[in-house]
Amino acid sequence: MFKRFEQMFGVDLGTCNTLIYQQGNGIVLREPSVVAIRKDTGQIEAFGEEAYAMIGRTPANLEVIHPLKEGVVANFDMAAAMLKHFISKVQGRYNWFRGSQVYISVRCGITEVQKRAVENMVVHKGSKRSVTIEEPLAAAIGAGLPISDPIGNMVVDIGGGTSQVALISLGGIVVSQNIRLGGMSIDRDIIEYVKKTYNVIIGERTAEEIKKTIASAVMPEADIRMDIRGNDLVAGLPITMSITSKEIYEIFDHFSMSIVESIRQTMEQCPPELAGDLMERGILLCGGGALLQGLDQRLQQEIGVPVHLAEFPMECIAQGAGRMLSFKAESIGNYTSSNEALEAAANQ
Ligand SMILES: Nc1ncnc2c1ncn2[C@@H]1O[C@H](COP(=O)(O)OP(=O)(O)OP(=O)(O)O)[C@@H](O)[C@H]1O
Ligand SMILES: [Mg+2]
Repeated sequence: MFKRFEQMFGVDLGTCNTLIYQQGNGIVLREPSVVAIRKDTGQIEAFGEEAYAMIGRTPANLEVIHPLKEGVVANFDMAAAMLKHFISKVQGRYNWFRGSQVYISVRCGITEVQKRAVENMVVHKGSKRSVTIEEPLAAAIGAGLPISDPIGNMVVDIGGGTSQVALISLGGIVVSQNIRLGGMSIDRDIIEYVKKTYNVIIGERTAEEIKKTIASAVMPEADIRMDIRGNDLVAGLPITMSITSKEIYEIFDHFSMSIVESIRQTMEQCPPELAGDLMERGILLCGGGALLQGLDQRLQQEIGVPVHLAEFPMECIAQGAGRMLSFKAESIGNYTSSNEALEAAANQ
């Protein structure tokens, strides 16, 4: 059956995850942003979930790469191939990407040239029109904030490769900051800690599992123990050992305080009229890193402003980009100056 909204998409191309949203159908694709390639020939072996399952298990001639680093496309060919694969997967199911209008989210502060490159990746794959939208703006729309009102809304997006703090008012970004820290840097810190303290090498996926299971931004009440497997550097053999939530809390502290510092710096640049709004309305926390145990609580304690975790922290950027699509792209192409369209999008 033909649907009027069937040619409208929102894409969140992230360092860790890619999400595609379709108006009316919601999130239709959610896959890790990874590609498995053959080292000798450069030939692509797998994308997304399939490639992610190979991390740490690849034979010598295969490697799994992240085409995005710190929120921006680092390997254009791989990113384009991955996006093409994801789009064809969606096309296969619904057959509606061709001729569509696509909003694709990008990190704040990237250059116009980088934006065009991202837009072209989608246009090439058959979409009629592709427009970039800054991630904090998309997140705010996705979470239903009244972004086109003359009031200040602060969004903190903790992604995998990068974190962004942005103050939004009247449909545009007033001030923003990027920090090169995200969920993946915590994983690296955990790997480093285990190596230094126990002489054991653990893989990326184990580190991520530790983070999701026992990491906490506030001092854990009980010391939870988790069994992990790695390679003993001294004996040169696989080993099972345990690690506790209190140890992880210590290494996590630097990360929490870097986010606090970045929020403080953004607040310092905030026009005084908007500062009062922030004190009252608080901060919207989103991105996968926002799911870190106790992070909202810790930020609230340190900054003294209410911190609200988005209802769907990992989805709100794609959702927000998708909601822009309920309007003709022509009328909101220049979205920062089209507050009516933004308002309507946010209230959808
Ligand atoms: N429950 C959880 N607890 C802690 N961290 C989590 C949880 N779920 C996901 N994460 C982390 O969130 C990160 C991915 O978040 P997200 O998908 O928002 O990133 P991204 O958009 O791909 O990256 P970026 O925005 O930097 O380009 C990963 O580092 C992942 O480990
Ligand atoms: Mg992101």
